[in-house]
Amino acid sequence: MQTNLTPFYNPALSYEENYQYGPFGDFSRAAPSIEHNKQTENFLNLQVNLPFGIPAGPLLNANFIKAAFNHGFDLCVYKTVRTRAQASHPLPNVLSVHPTGRLSAHTDTVLADTNYTAPLSITNSFGVPSFNPNIWQPDMAEAVNAAQKGQYIIGSFQGTCGNESSIEKDYACAARLVDETAAPILEANLSCPNEGVNKLLCFDFDKVERIAKEIKNAVPDKPLFLKLAYFADDDVILPLLNRLDGTVDGYSTINTLSARPVTANGEPALGLDRPTGGVCGEAIRWAGLEMVERLARLRIRLNNHFVIIGVGGVSSAAHYQAYRLAGADAVMSATGAMWNPQLALQIKSSLNG
Ligand SMILES: Cc1cc2nc3c(=O)[nH]c(=O)nc-3n(C[C@H](O)[C@H](O)[C@H](O)COP(=O)(O)O)c2cc1C
Repeated sequence: MQTNLTPFYNPALSYEENYQYGPFGDFSRAAPSIEHNKQTENFLNLQVNLPFGIPAGPLLNANFIKAAFNHGFDLCVYKTVRTRAQASHPLPNVLSVHPTGRLSAHTDTVLADTNYTAPLSITNSFGVPSFNPNIWQPDMAEAVNAAQKGQYIIGSFQGTCGNESSIEKDYACAARLVDETAAPILEANLSCPNEGVNKLLCFDFDKVERIAKEIKNAVPDKPLFLKLAYFADDDVILPLLNRLDGTVDGYSTINTLSARPVTANGEPALGLDRPTGGVCGEAIRWAGLEMVERLARLRIRLNNHFVIIGVGGVSSAAHYQAYRLAGADAVMSATGAMWNPQLALQIKSSLNG
């Protein structure tokens, strides 16, 4: 079944064109009137209309964030920023992928093309682009000001090897720059490939601990989330949670599952220099739900008090409810929201109905 909605991020255009001319579709039009939940919910001691929103990535700047707030997404993550400008990978950055059944966590090969069919899974490959802080800081501050009652911005950032004396220091520097915009909540992205090392940063526990402590020293008085990838086992992630207890306020999970997107001819669909890409959407919901269940279980077992943001494959009110039942304190949707800008309003009306 072809999706009939226009995504607010246009995969046929470059990242820069989306930044300049977006958002598109419903997000470019006036929002319908919002019927908020009668009861707000507590999220990190903040009163949020509904703990549902859009995770780091598709909301490129204040224009995207304003549209998302206007369409009832109450927790909006400003796209991951860096301490210095970094260009995006060239097109293609987003392709539809068609795994047979659910995607495994073992870098499956998947057919990729531009047929955006429901239930939708996509690969995204941008290389975490960023403008210089003199561009993104005033824009993030504008996004912070766009929040209405019961709505909050989360500022996502990551460190870059070579920008400071160490990656830890660069994460702390990025956190300080985000803090200056008055974003009330911080999120450090640790689930992108660790530069120079063939594994994700969040799997290097010594480094994660050092980074989290540097950030907390730099910005002691704001809640800090870490964006984590999928961990396949309770015992694997447990030592990390133990080490971070008291430093980190919560975890946002998951990012994407890695896959090998190929064309119908079997060639790398993102280009020869990018044989793998992160997959998100329908095919990874099982992994997001499993991670949330894992964290919720370990939170009780360790008597920890961290907050859990569940991400991965959410495209309906039933998916939102499934994540809440699994233990998520908040839920977010990237792929689902991009192709259905009415998703937050639909979830709200299903809860109110
Ligand atoms: C277009 C796009 C760009 C993304 N960029 C980022 C990013 O800059 N930082 C980050 O932490 N995650 C990024 N992500 C990952 C999402 O935050 C999310 O973890 C992932 O897409 C899974 O959610 P979904 O299944 O609802 O799409 C991006 C996702 C998409 C679709």
